[in-house]
Amino acid sequence: MMIRGTQGYGSNAPELAEQYESITFDDVHHEVMHLFPSPPARVLDIGAGSGRDAAALATLGHRVVAVEPTDALRREGLRLHAGKPIEWVDDHLPDLQRLHRRKDRFDLILLTAVWMHLDIEERRTAMKSLAGLLDANGRISMSLRHGPVPEGRRMFEVSADETIELAGSHGLGAVQVAERDDMLGRPDIRWSFVVLERRR
Ligand SMILES: C[S@@+](CC[C@H](N)C(=O)[O-])C[C@H]1O[C@@H](n2cnc3c(N)ncnc32)[C@H](O)[C@@H]1O
Repeated sequence: MMIRGTQGYGSNAPELAEQYESITFDDVHHEVMHLFPSPPARVLDIGAGSGRDAAALATLGHRVVAVEPTDALRREGLRLHAGKPIEWVDDHLPDLQRLHRRKDRFDLILLTAVWMHLDIEERRTAMKSLAGLLDANGRISMSLRHGPVPEGRRMFEVSADETIELAGSHGLGAVQVAERDDMLGRPDIRWSFVVLERRR
């Protein structure tokens, strides 16, 4: 069964993994990483791809669960970061059923370049699902891609404002919103970063 949002990811996983691993965790997250918890924290990386961020966070001393529904990318992640204590889970948005069954709560939930793969109904369901996996003092950090949709991918227009509004329905508010150009230097692509936490 094709998981919605994963179209186009399975067929060239080694090339994609190489692209994802050509930049570092710090390159990608430098606008927001000061808001990430100190290790050791419980981290959930959803749509982890080849595990670049999961591996960096595990190296920092966090306990990392990496969720990736595309089998071929999960395999690349396992191969590339074999020595790292990352727990790989085959699950997917919007429901994350397997994760919810485990009853774990997380201090940091990352969705890097994933949210725009969900349509509005899925984004509503997914926000509820994320809020349910977040510890009382936890944070969610998402990056949203703006720009043309690559051929063969399923992507929707998303914005920081809409994301914050959806988060508000689940008692979450934005701690930081940032915008930046593309880490891979593609001129037509921009990114928003949104960090969310429970409103106090
Ligand atoms: C652009 S890649 C980003 C990978 C990684 N986070 C990174 O920053 O390098 C998007 C990832 O989202 C995953 N994805 C797509 N639809 C998904 C869904 N419904 N649930 C969870 N992950 C999904 C894809 O399989 C892919 O690994």
